[in-house]
Amino acid sequence: MTDRTLGGTLKLADDFEINRMGYGAMQLAGPHVFGPPRDRDEAIAVLREAVELGVDHIDTADFYGPYTVNDLIKEALYPYPDGLRIVTKVGARRGEDGSWIFRREPEDLKAQVHENLRRLGMEALDAVNLRVGAVEGPQDEPLSEMFGALAELQREGLIRHLGLSNVTDAQLTEVQAIAPVVTVQNLYNVARRQDDGMVDRCAAEGIAYAAFFPLGGFTPLQSAALDEVARLLGATPHQVALAWLLRRSPTTVLIPGTSSRAHLRENIAAAQLDLSADAMTQLDAIGR
Ligand SMILES: NC(=O)c1ccc[n+]([C@@H]2O[C@H](COP(=O)([O-])OP(=O)(O)OC[C@H]3O[C@@H](n4cnc5c(N)ncnc54)[C@H](OP(=O)(O)O)[C@@H]3O)[C@@H](O)[C@H]2O)c1
Repeated sequence: MTDRTLGGTLKLADDFEINRMGYGAMQLAGPHVFGPPRDRDEAIAVLREAVELGVDHIDTADFYGPYTVNDLIKEALYPYPDGLRIVTKVGARRGEDGSWIFRREPEDLKAQVHENLRRLGMEALDAVNLRVGAVEGPQDEPLSEMFGALAELQREGLIRHLGLSNVTDAQLTEVQAIAPVVTVQNLYNVARRQDDGMVDRCAAEGIAYAAFFPLGGFTPLQSAALDEVARLLGATPHQVALAWLLRRSPTTVLIPGTSSRAHLRENIAAAQLDLSADAMTQLDAIGR
């Protein structure tokens, strides 16, 4: 399944090698990441086509829907093809009104792992991110107890690899004393560069940096520089934003989210765009 057209591969552990261009499944839930998808057949088709096009890592969580997105993944892709990695997250639940509720007590985190296993139909989860801070940004707080609970499940064989989401530099350092971290997932894109230091650190330590909101999330990226570079390349501004992320560091991985096959194809094709040094300079200025 590995293909250089998907941004090349990244080896994070002996049994964990992925194409850098992946897929983020959050957009498959209903509005505000709550309830069923607007178009169920299209959601299933998006997942199947992503894998057909060579995507070998899908980012998800039980709290998307809640449960809807993991159910769709299982329906579309189970039994899972060899080499497909499903990366899930724990640390939150949803209220009946769609609210997001932090649930990070060790026993609840363990329960969430078991729920993900059941929903996805897996005996061991490929990778689990401990999602810590809010989407707006991480907060410094100790993580050893929470991460320790997941490391325990890793030792029991229920989780293959561990990651973190919405975390600070200090938090990454803290938990590395407990177990290896193969991926960090924080908010980052060409216009939101507050996490530049973490991107560089992940590259130096061989950790995958999965940029969430690579296209701006609920606030789509808009910039004259993106438009200009896209026009010169005959590409779309979204493709340029993704190509910039791939070029930004050797260990960035992309999880653009979409509920449409047309956008999926466009996003995957972005891995083949060549950005010149001049284009990079022009794009770098957006987030400075
Ligand atoms: N750890 C965390 O706290 C956290 C938070 C947020 C997200 N995430 C993860 O990160 C992934 C990516 O984030 P995201 O999906 O929220 O944001 P995103 O990838 O930045 O943007 C998704 C939005 O862009 C649109 N879009 C996608 N491709 C497009 C294209 N080629 N042309 C035009 N519009 C396009 C989508 O609409 P359409 O559906 O119409 O294409 C959707 O509205 C999620 O799926 C999730 O797995 C993690």
